[in-house]
Amino acid sequence: MPERSGTRDDDPFSGRHPTSHERRAGLPWDASYRDGPAPWDIGQPQPAVVRLASEGGFAEAVLDAGCGTGENALHVASLGLSVLGVDVAETALAIAREKASDRGIEAEFVAADAFHLERLGRTFETVLDCGLFHSFDGHERPRYVASLASVTEHGGTLYVLCFSDEGPDTGPHPISREELRAAFNPSTGWNVAAIEPDRVQTRFHGDHGAPAWFATIKRI
Ligand SMILES: C[S@@+](CC[C@H](N)C(=O)[O-])C[C@H]1O[C@@H](n2cnc3c(N)ncnc32)[C@H](O)[C@@H]1O
Repeated sequence: MPERSGTRDDDPFSGRHPTSHERRAGLPWDASYRDGPAPWDIGQPQPAVVRLASEGGFAEAVLDAGCGTGENALHVASLGLSVLGVDVAETALAIAREKASDRGIEAEFVAADAFHLERLGRTFETVLDCGLFHSFDGHERPRYVASLASVTEHGGTLYVLCFSDEGPDTGPHPISREELRAAFNPSTGWNVAAIEPDRVQTRFHGDHGAPAWFATIKRI
């Protein structure tokens, strides 16, 4: 079942455990979206996602885990694919729904915790993680990886676009290839097919963005 999150005055986390990122910030993710665009919210899809889509990399149904204000999900949906975007930030989801309506694009955006995707009761052929994996500390990753596995069809594909540790000018949560391989391997239900150097655009990294990994990971 979709969950409400980040909107109740008495509990900004609406009953879920705050993530490591939220504990460090002392604020729920939703707060990042309340006063103008968040640092990662570039108002357009990530070039890596656009490229992948143009190469036919997405097969429906598609899940965008941690979809934010929906630019990546909306781009994929604009190609005619069935897309669900999930996030814990209600403000971001409201913005995503408004964009979908304004642009006449059919896409679904619901509140859900990425640590409990099985509660969606749905499975997906393609899952996109753009900037979510790298926000989790090591101790949170096994639970997230298992949650992803629970909703990805066997033989399906997960794409992870995350900050890489190969500088210069790395992003705030740099990830190594080894960390990706430690999280996603046959013992957790995945095979890493490729980890390619790429770029991720942010509002503070200039035209060329920050160094990133684009990982293609197959569900066993
Ligand atoms: C760095 S932002 C990236 C947003 C979007 N993918 C983009 O590229 O603009 C990470 C997103 O993950 C969401 N998020 C963080 N923890 C989450 C969780 N446990 N479940 C679902 N979404 C989460 C945040 O609210 C935020 O929107």
